[in-house]
Amino acid sequence: MSFGGGKVILLGEHGVVYGRPALAVGLERGAHAKASIHATNVLDIATWNLRVEPDPQGELLARAFAEALSRSTPDAPVRVQVDVELPAGAGLGCSAAVGVAVIAALDELRGVERSRVDLGHEAIHWERVFHGNPSGIDNMIAACGGAACYRKSEGLDRITFDRSFWLVVGDSGEASSTKERVAEVARFHERDRAGAERIFDAMASLAQNGRLAIEAADHPRLGRLMDLNHALLNALMLSTPRLEELVAAAREAGALGAKVTGAGGGGCMVALCAEEQRAGAVRASLEGLGASSFITEVRS
Ligand code: PMV
Repeated sequence: MSFGGGKVILLGEHGVVYGRPALAVGLERGAHAKASIHATNVLDIATWNLRVEPDPQGELLARAFAEALSRSTPDAPVRVQVDVELPAGAGLGCSAAVGVAVIAALDELRGVERSRVDLGHEAIHWERVFHGNPSGIDNMIAACGGAACYRKSEGLDRITFDRSFWLVVGDSGEASSTKERVAEVARFHERDRAGAERIFDAMASLAQNGRLAIEAADHPRLGRLMDLNHALLNALMLSTPRLEELVAAAREAGALGAKVTGAGGGGCMVALCAEEQRAGAVRASLEGLGASSFITEVRS
């Protein structure tokens, strides 16, 4: 089975579309795909009970699948079977995880060998179908995993550190479209270029400081930076009352910081904890509010 991972952005979403750095970590959960020779080209996503045929003018998945096939070595038709372990439209990089898994499965069937970095670059074409103007962070982390700083002009830069930390991810249950959120931010940027640039610059310095905080295992500082980043996302109107409720509950339960993650306007929030036990308490508080959630350990 070929794998593409989900991701959580710790600092810098949206600013990263405008060339600023962002910090993200890959998730162990994501999408698994397998390709086999078949009578016609078909993409089967059992998790969503979905069967899609490639169509350059069709729905998003049909278009993305057509794009992946057209860029892969022409050969016999294929069936690609996919299992997805992430909620879609929730800010966890689901479309990129599926794209990376599908492309890796096609590569495997057709004997194409490429590095995970090249696989990540290839998946930007899949992401463009879904997101219009993606920064590239989702597809690169989906392919390469780990904790990394990403910048459009520089690509992924892996972060190494000594002490693990825990993230609690809570789902607002409100689906959101990354493409629409990115377009809204673009409209704000057109209306008030100087104001938007100031926000992106502030996000960039949070991401740069966040990297140092991770390297120094200064988790309280990382948490404060996440809180500040949440305020900036709020200034871009990317939170919702439900996300505010979950972020407040996580902080109340002892998280070191909490924020919207990914495109926002719905989707998930993420909270930081330095110990596993605290993460359990934060998770319980989110579940108490009816939010589905999970804990992930970020290992060095
Ligand atoms: O919502 P997601 O998981 O697709 O994350 C989007 C991250 C953005 O910075 C908002 C967009 C991008 O392309 O980087």
